[in-house]
This record gives sequence, structure tokens and C-alpha cells, in this order.
Amino acid sequence: MKLELNHTFSFLSKENMQSYESAIASTYNTIFNKTGAGNDFLGWVNLPSEIDEAFLADIERTAAELRKKSDLFVVIGIGGSYLGARAVIEALQNHFAPLSGERPLIVYAGHNMSEDYLHELIAILDQKDYSLAVISKSGTTTEPAIAFRILKQHIINKYGEQEAASRIIAITDKAKGALKQLANVKGYKTYIVPDDVGGRFSVLTPVGLLPIAVAGIDIRALVKGAVEIEQLCKSNPTLNGNFVSEYAVVRHMMYLMGKTNEIMVNYEPRLVYFSEWWKQLYGESHGKNHKGIFPASVTFSTDLHSMGQYIQDGLRNLFETVISVERSNHELRIPLENEDLDQLNYIAGKRISEVNHKAELGTMLAHEDGGVPVIRLEIPEVSAFVLGQLIYFFEMACALSGYLLEVNPFDQPGVEAYKKNMFALLGKKGYEEKTAELNHRLSTIL
Ligand code: PA5
Repeated sequence: MKLELNHTFSFLSKENMQSYESAIASTYNTIFNKTGAGNDFLGWVNLPSEIDEAFLADIERTAAELRKKSDLFVVIGIGGSYLGARAVIEALQNHFAPLSGERPLIVYAGHNMSEDYLHELIAILDQKDYSLAVISKSGTTTEPAIAFRILKQHIINKYGEQEAASRIIAITDKAKGALKQLANVKGYKTYIVPDDVGGRFSVLTPVGLLPIAVAGIDIRALVKGAVEIEQLCKSNPTLNGNFVSEYAVVRHMMYLMGKTNEIMVNYEPRLVYFSEWWKQLYGESHGKNHKGIFPASVTFSTDLHSMGQYIQDGLRNLFETVISVERSNHELRIPLENEDLDQLNYIAGKRISEVNHKAELGTMLAHEDGGVPVIRLEIPEVSAFVLGQLIYFFEMACALSGYLLEVNPFDQPGVEAYKKNMFALLGKKGYEEKTAELNHRLSTIL
């Protein structure tokens, strides 16, 4: 199985691309020798090939125990602490998982602060056997902390302290943070998020692997896929013959040409959360110092009937990256009807995927005619192995792109601004001055 990257931009000459050859080679050096900005967060680089048998077996054992006693499994986390798991789980589970009888069903909490969401989740948990993972690298993030405080009480009321403790897994820092202290006091099983792996790069640590394994997905195949692309980058850390580098360079050249918005396009709704994971990875890694491509996403052909107009005809600052899936997992053909009242007999006998594929090719040509360049990433199928390949592909390309952009791809200082204001408005100790300033500003607006 292999991934293939195609792009068809008449205005991107081979010479222009080749001018990045030495920049790419030296960026790989920077990454592998850990000499660039954010170099203490490069643990993801060797992670796939360093995952050992004992670790995988332990995750699988824990997952099997949780699967036995759970109709529902709640993943509590936000940002990098839930998006990777959700991306893989939603890509591989039945589209109608809540109705298809698959168990345990994976549900999510702590990724918003909606009172209605939590209230309605609790009403479901009242009726179901469940267990949960609370995931926070820092162990102090407000959204998951609130959800966990509420669900912790619920699970204890439902099962009693001892049984509840066997149904709670904490995934956090090895020593720091409130969650680690709480897990120690309460005796929860814990898994560690390595110090040198940032949240958005953590899907192949217990952060992603435990929930994915609880969902019944083959984590070994996922890791194997990632190892393959890790090895490709290590054996050929250049621009030529390495589609990871090529993607990083092409999107950087787009940016310099004023294509400041990249739209991740899928034609398979099971990939919606993969795009969400990608948006966080690229948005949080590159959007700094007033620079960076804005990552957006659409699902076609659904969104061709909503966003399609803008993409075809709106402001020309867009390019697309299409994840093109060669094979569907199931076969379904359009039936022939004698009467042909709906005039669809011209495609009778064809598979739905064939029609979807033609929509994809037609759209690509239409968008290129409209001035929207398209990068195509072809994948043979949506499987755990291929998702593993994609994960490492996008992680490494993200690091390369970030360094080409001359930003630190591994920090996220901008995320703190809303937190400070929220703490001040909630009256947290230590924020008194800020509270007064914000309340004054709000009084002039509201
Ligand atoms: O990529 C990141 O570092 C962030 O998106 C974090 O994953 C997110 O803010 C959650 O942080 P934490 O895991 O510390 O609760």
C-alpha cells in the first residue's frame, strides 16, 4: 500500500520547487538533530519505531478489560488530547455506530463547556454501563477538568468508590499537574504523556492509542503505518522522491503566492474528524507571528452544495488538499429501472464510489479552472494502517512547513489569551487587575 501525492499547477515550475532542495535537507537535519525552535518537543519524530511490544500489549489488555464492562466509553479531553483518537475512531467505525449495536460506543466530553451537552450525556450514562479516560497532558485544562469533576461524581455514585476507580483511566504528565495528583490519591490506573510530545502530536501515545484500542481498532496496524512513513523520511530526508517534503514545499509556495487558505477536502464523511485533527495540527503549529496558512475543511460532495460556490468563484486566496480514497469498504450499485422516471439509467450498474470518484475529478478540474490549485493525496483505502501513514505524513510535513515559515511549530502561546480573560472574568485568585480592566471594557460593549 502506498500514498501518492499529485498536483497540477502550471505556475509551479520544477525549477522553483527544486530551489527548496537544500532548505528541505537542512530542515530535516534541524529536526533529526534537534537544533531548531521547540526542540524539546520532538519526541514524536522517533515515536512510532520506538513503540515496543510490552507497551502495546499493556494498552490492549487495559482496553480489553474496559471493553468487557462498558457499553459506553467516555473520552474526556480537548484539542490534542481527544482529536487524534476521534479522527481514527470515526474514520473506522460504522457511520451509524450509535444505532448499529457496536459496543462500546465511544463518546466525548471535556471538549466544550456546554451545560446542555453534559446534562444530556449524564442522562444517557444513568442508563448505561460505562468507563472513562480523562486525558490532559498539563492536567490543569479547565474544560476536561470540569467534565471530569462532574463525571467522577456520577461514576462513583453509580458504582461506588472502588469499582469506579477500576473504570477510570488517567492519561497525563508523569509528575506534574492536578490530574496526576488526583489520580495518585484515588489510585487510578495512569498512562504517561511523554514530556517531549506536545498534545497535537500525541495520537500515537496512550492519549490516542488507549481510546482507539477500546474502540476495537487494530493499534498495531496504525503504528505500523506510521513507522513506514517515519522510515521513508529517515531514509530519504530530501525533496526528491519524498512526498512528505513535496507537500510541505508545495503548500509553502502556495502561501508565498498569496494562497493563504488551505482547504482539506474529503469525499468520505468518515474522514470529517481526520480533517479536524489536521486543522488543529496545522492551525496551532503555524498560526503565529501574524503568519501561517489558515486551515479549513469541507466534505464533498455535501459541501459542494453550500461552500462550493465560494470555492469556485470567491476570493482567490484558496488551495485545496484532497484526500482521495481509491477503494470503498463496501460495494453498492445503482439499480436499473425500466421506467427511468428519474433519468438515472445512464449510470445504472455503476458503483456509488465510481460516481463519487467522477464528482471528485470533475470538481478538481472545475476548481483549477476557477483558480484554486488542488493537491491530491491518494490513499488506497481507509484502514488503520493507512491512517497511521497519514498521521506521520502530516506530522512531519507540519514540522517541515513550520520551519520553512520560520515559526516554532511546537508551541501555542496564543492559546493562553482566552484562558487569562476567562479566569479573570470568573474571578480566579491572582487575576484581580485583569478582572477590573475586562469588566470595564465589557461595560462599554454590552
Ligand atoms: O496541542 C496542544 O498542545 C493543545 O491542543 C492541547 O492538546 C490542549 O490544549 C489540551 O491540553 P491538555 O492536554 O494539557 O489538557
